Amino acid sequence: MKIAATGKELHQLLAAPKSKNGLRVLVPTMGALHAGHLALMSKAREIAGAEGTVIVSIFVNPIQFNRPDDLAAYPRTMEADLAACQAAGVDLVFTPEAASMYCPDRSITVTENLLSKELCGATRPGHFDGVCTVVLKLFLLTGCDAAIFGEKDAQQLAIIRRMVRDLDVPVEIIGHPTIREPDGLAMSSRNVRLSPAQRADAPKIHQALETAKNSGSRDASEILRIAREGLEFSRIDRIDYLSLVDAETLQPINSVERPALLATAVFYGEVRLIDHVIL
Ligand code: PAJ
Repeated sequence: MKIAATGKELHQLLAAPKSKNGLRVLVPTMGALHAGHLALMSKAREIAGAEGTVIVSIFVNPIQFNRPDDLAAYPRTMEADLAACQAAGVDLVFTPEAASMYCPDRSITVTENLLSKELCGATRPGHFDGVCTVVLKLFLLTGCDAAIFGEKDAQQLAIIRRMVRDLDVPVEIIGHPTIREPDGLAMSSRNVRLSPAQRADAPKIHQALETAKNSGSRDASEILRIAREGLEFSRIDRIDYLSLVDAETLQPINSVERPALLATAVFYGEVRLIDHVIL
C-alpha cells in the first residue's frame, strides 16, 4: 500500500497510466475508520476490479466544521486507520495536511444553493460548501473515475450528486447503504465520544424513526409527532432538527406521496449524531 501526504506525491504515485481493465475508485473519509468506512472500501475494490486502483483519502477537512470545538474534538487515529486500509486491500492512501490542501489566501468555494438549505445545512451554515469544495478537490487531485459515499449522510450524497451533475464532473457517484451496530445505532466516527450511558441509549434514535415509519401514516405532522415522542423517550440532550423531506429534492413535505426521508440530528452533550429512514 502506498501513502501520499501531498498532492505532488499523489501525482507522482499515480503517474503510471490508468490500467486498461480497472477503474480508479476513491473513498473520501475523515479517518477514525470503522466498519461503515470499510464497507465502502470493499465496494470500491469490487468496482475497481483487481486491476484497478482503490484510493482512500483521510483528511479532517477544517473548512466543513462550523464549530472549532467540534473540529478539535474530532477523533484522529491515523496509525490504526492506515493498518485498516492495508488490511482492506487499499492501494493508495492520501493523507494531506490542511496547509497543503488550502492556500492561506484561497478565495474560491463550491456553493450549493438549494439542497443545502435544509436539514444539516440549516443548522451547520457553510458545512456543505466545505464538503463540496474538498470533494471536488479530491476528485481533481486523484483523477478518480468513481467515488463511493455512504447513504448515512443522505444530504451529503444528494448534494454531491447535484454538484457532479451541475458542474459536469466526470466522476460516477456510488451510494452505499448505512452500516449499523447490532443494536441499530448507525456507525459513526463520533460514537466513540459518547459516554457508556449515552452509547447504551443511542439506539433509541433509530428506533424512534423506525416507529414513526412503521406507523404507516402518510401525514407529515403525525409522522413527526411519533418520531419526536420516541426521541423524547431517550436521554438525548437536544434535537437539532427532525424533518420529513422529499428524498430527491430534500424539501419539506406535508404528506408522503413519493420516497421521503425522515431525518434527524440530535445532541448528546456536545456530540452530534445523525440518522434517517426512508419512507
Ligand atoms: P466521514 O464522516 O469520515 O465519512 C466518510 C464516508 O463514509 C462518507 O461517505 C460517509 O457517508 C460514509 N459513512 C460514514 N458512516 C457510515 C456508515 N455507518 N455506513 C455507511 N457509510 C458510512 O463524510 C465525510 O467523512 C466527509 O464529509 C467527506 C465526504 C470525507 C468530505 O470531507
